[in-house]
Amino acid sequence: MRIDVLTLFPKMFEGPMGESILGKAQEKGQLEIKLSNFRDYSANKHHTVDDYPYGGGAGMLLKVQPIYDNLEAIKKASPDTKKRIVLLDPAGAPFNQKMAEDFSQEEHLVFICGHYEGYDERIRSLVTDEVSIGDYVLTGGELGAMVMIDATVRLLPEVLGNELSAKTDSHSTGLLEHPQYTRPAVFNDMEVPEVLKNGNHKLIETWQLKEALRRTWQRRPDMLEKMELTAEMEELLEE
Ligand code: ADE
Repeated sequence: MRIDVLTLFPKMFEGPMGESILGKAQEKGQLEIKLSNFRDYSANKHHTVDDYPYGGGAGMLLKVQPIYDNLEAIKKASPDTKKRIVLLDPAGAPFNQKMAEDFSQEEHLVFICGHYEGYDERIRSLVTDEVSIGDYVLTGGELGAMVMIDATVRLLPEVLGNELSAKTDSHSTGLLEHPQYTRPAVFNDMEVPEVLKNGNHKLIETWQLKEALRRTWQRRPDMLEKMELTAEMEELLEE
């Protein structure tokens, strides 16, 4: 997968994008991330990227020209890839696991990180998606782009050591993940549930499903409402 990020602050990505799973994916050649500073594409002699809004109003807006030219350079450098161009915007569609799964199937993702008060409306005509990472306003799109890149790249085949672990994640199954335990069997009087130690896989699976349902019902009833429950789930919920 190829990822381009358009940002005024490429240094913000240096640490986070090189470490851990993302770093390994790049070393193994499964992922190539390229950062570009769209200030470098400003046609203005002072390299400005923002300007006052027509009609007045508070704050500055990002200009369309530097972002347009930066995107054109990316298209010229990779003419043959199918691109998904994502504008980071608190007013965009909420990012979720389904979107991360869709992104992970793409060949080439391009993220545009905004700053200042907002975008010249014409920037929206250059993109395929407008996405928010949550109902709060950040100082810029960089942290949002990192969140989306992290959630997407860990879904690429062979990036996570254990492929199964991405499929059973909270949110992939539609339920929050059930409680899990590792050694010791007792810690400060807190015990591992007996059922997990007896080796009966059918009983363990039923316990895990029941606990996942319980946790989802307690913490995220909105998720249960959206799900189609199986007969087994209905029965466990009634218990
Ligand atoms: N830029 C500022 N706030 C944002 C948010 N919540 N999501 C995406 N981009 C943003």
